[in-house]
Amino acid sequence: MDTMAGMSRTCGCGEVDQQHMDQIITLAGWVQRRRDHGGLIFVDLRDRSGIVQLVMSPQYGEEAFRKAESVRNEYVLAVQGKVRSRSEDTINPKMKTGRVEVVVSELRILNRAKTPPFYVEDGIDVDENVRLKYRYIDLRRPEMQQHLIMRHKIAHAMREFLDDNGFLEIETPMLTKSTPEGARDYLVPSRVNPGKFYALPQSPQLFKQLLMVSGLERYFQIVRCFRDEDLRADRQPEFTQLDMELSFENQDFILDLMEHMMQQVFRSVLHVEIPIPFQRITWDDAMNLYGSDKPDLRFDMHFHDITGLLKDTGFKVFRSVIERGGVVKAITVKGDAAIPRRELDGLVEYAGRYGAKGMAWIGFLEDGGLKCQITKFLGEELVRKIGAFCEAEKGDLVLIIADQPKVVAQALGELRLEMGRRMNLIDENAFCFRWVVDFPMFEYSEDEKRYVAEHHPFTAPKEEDVQYLLSDPARVHANAYDMVLNGIEAGGGSLRIYQEELQEKVFQAIGISQEEARQKFGFLLDAFQYGAPPHAGIALGLDRLVMLMLRCSSIRDVIAFPKTQSAIDPLTQAPSSVAEKQLKELHIKLDLHKESDLFQ
Ligand code: AMO
Repeated sequence: MDTMAGMSRTCGCGEVDQQHMDQIITLAGWVQRRRDHGGLIFVDLRDRSGIVQLVMSPQYGEEAFRKAESVRNEYVLAVQGKVRSRSEDTINPKMKTGRVEVVVSELRILNRAKTPPFYVEDGIDVDENVRLKYRYIDLRRPEMQQHLIMRHKIAHAMREFLDDNGFLEIETPMLTKSTPEGARDYLVPSRVNPGKFYALPQSPQLFKQLLMVSGLERYFQIVRCFRDEDLRADRQPEFTQLDMELSFENQDFILDLMEHMMQQVFRSVLHVEIPIPFQRITWDDAMNLYGSDKPDLRFDMHFHDITGLLKDTGFKVFRSVIERGGVVKAITVKGDAAIPRRELDGLVEYAGRYGAKGMAWIGFLEDGGLKCQITKFLGEELVRKIGAFCEAEKGDLVLIIADQPKVVAQALGELRLEMGRRMNLIDENAFCFRWVVDFPMFEYSEDEKRYVAEHHPFTAPKEEDVQYLLSDPARVHANAYDMVLNGIEAGGGSLRIYQEELQEKVFQAIGISQEEARQKFGFLLDAFQYGAPPHAGIALGLDRLVMLMLRCSSIRDVIAFPKTQSAIDPLTQAPSSVAEKQLKELHIKLDLHKESDLFQ
């Protein structure tokens, strides 16, 4: 096997162009493919910068030609040769280097390679588990390399912006105490403190607040967070946040700062100009109009609340829902009145997956007729009234769900998204940012039969709502905001409580006793007694943002070594069993009697 001794690369494979014409250059990379034309061998050589065609013939280098006969895909080569133009008939306009080729005079085989489990090229149709098991090969594919390059550029642009704005990048502990983010913790046993556990941080929330007490004023960190929760396309057990906190500024300042940061990042990385300020929508409006706290507003199609129109109806299905505190809401789908019955049945089933017990429809046909299974119960006049209320015209379809408010929000919200997709209303090229503001401070937990903090208990309530903290917690809104991009929560944050009296009231509202508060976050409460400044912050999900910017469908595509949906890494086989000796050192005994325990 050869080495690179005495050779150094002069440029990248993808960079070879007219300016190198007739020059002797040195390249190194992997064999994309080899074509043997008898006395002439072509090799496409690939490195991070791209691919270039090499030509070997005994006439240009006897030994190079002989070696080229033995190379296979993914062999690692270094070559020296002269750049020349390709003949007109061999120009490849699809390749960046398609007008040139390198006539090789020296070829070194730096390493051989086994036949890879899949081709190193874009657009492959390979099971994701196989891609993850051989992730080091998967990451050789140009599109994957591009994802990581862009991710780097996005993080770099953020750092640059924040540095320019006086933010300091400060690291916080990975082995720490559990933070109140609300998911399950990943625990790490402490050998030297038997029976005690660290938690991996769900976010640096409490530490960044301490940094404000310390007077650092503006903090950020691109930081790994760990949450043991059910996984989805936009959730990983470990993920990365751009985490920030700052002192002495109000909500408008933070939202404005984030908008400018996003604008600069999009401009410098994607060369896309995003308009600012982002529109703001209150949580109440988002839920009432779109059934979601992260509405996809790339298309409108909002809910119409027709409960009022139906309160006196004799139609039992609607009346009994309304009598039990439910609501009846509708969406209008433009131009879909002619939808076949079979598809409507499919939509009923679809809404059912999100909890709806049924769905009614009214098609306002082009010929003035109605396609509606409930006209006989409501009467045509009321049906037409509903149509007018929902701004339905001839040719439009109205879909209606009656249920408890939460169910209507969820089912009609999902139906809205589905109809948006079916009717091609979603502009896949759009970047649609929104701020969702004024979240409720608390959420009632049916499980615990008490109010719990919607964000975390250090979120500041709206000043005008403080008076209701104990008397009517459901009415209290928080100074909390989420950044939503194309219907996905890209980030969230809040103004924090920094005064003891208010903090105590909030704990009281959610039924946390003084002792419990002390035990859980005593160190933060202590710190707050030594002059805590007003402070606020936000965290953006970096993986999600990169996924959305690159228009990928999963965050796994923008993470170098992600885990599967079942939190497994097929490459390293983590998580795995450990030696009995390791468990002993940690004073841990496993209790895996039942088979079901193994799959918990
Ligand atoms: P929050 O819990 O909203 O806020 O998280 C901030 C952002 O992180 C992203 N995110 C995730 N991304 C991938 N996988 C996950 N499992 C995952 N969970 C969250 C989301 C989310 O908007 N400490 C607060 C922030 C603050 O108040 O300053 C926090 O962590 O994009």
